[in-house]
Amino acid sequence: MRVLIHPTPELAIDCVADLMIARLARQPDAVLGLATGGTMEAVYARLIAAHHAGRVSFAAARSFNLDEYVGLAPDHPCSYWTYMREHLFAQVDFAAGRTALPRGDAADPEAEAARYEAEIAVAGDISLQLLGLGSNGHIGFNEPTSSLSSLTRIKTLTHSTRAANARFFDRFDDVPRLAITMGIGTILRADEVLLLAYGAGKAEAAAAMIEGPLAAACPASALQLHRKVTVVLDEAAASRLALRDYYEAVHPKGRAEI
Ligand code: GLP
Repeated sequence: MRVLIHPTPELAIDCVADLMIARLARQPDAVLGLATGGTMEAVYARLIAAHHAGRVSFAAARSFNLDEYVGLAPDHPCSYWTYMREHLFAQVDFAAGRTALPRGDAADPEAEAARYEAEIAVAGDISLQLLGLGSNGHIGFNEPTSSLSSLTRIKTLTHSTRAANARFFDRFDDVPRLAITMGIGTILRADEVLLLAYGAGKAEAAAAMIEGPLAAACPASALQLHRKVTVVLDEAAASRLALRDYYEAVHPKGRAEI
């Protein structure tokens, strides 16, 4: 696991955007695995700016998002479809029909999850998977005790995850209780994984993910099994790492060959 610790959240965000841009330069037809959440808003803003500056194109790429709330249609204001349209898709040059999310309003969510998993496999799996980190250690919506080899399926959200996401809804009770999410096994099939976390609220989960035991109690710890993971943190999110000095010696100020 490559651990890059940046002095500020802004520099960590720049680093993630630059790594994505570099991957697309090497592989313009990459299959991107995309994430939502507050963490990613600034990453997508950087990608849009880079696109407008002629530094990156998504014209040959395609994308699959990690997850969607069960019950929310693509045009629901709080759906991840809406999030992605507003924060990225409407402002860059993905070709029509080349961006995918699960349908939260599918009549049979289990069948939709299986269909989505199959669609990812048919696309050849994810080239570069972007991830945020839940403060309880979740990735996608794989809550603690998720099977470490799970595929795309329905997960019940924990109270803490619903509380963390309530800021995107009018009322706590509006936050859905279920989500369709790529599984941990789906994520582990990606060629490369890029995880971003910043702020003190992520410090405990980041330490469990990087240095804790491989355990379903911290789903992100499954990334220890992956061959090509880059974790990008700011100093606050890195504050609980026992081996922080080591990571900083290997990559001073989070600098990495791209
Ligand atoms: C959400 C999403 C995750 C995201 C995480 C962190 O529930 N399903 O994909 O990475 O929680 O969210 P935030 O970036 O808002 O802290």
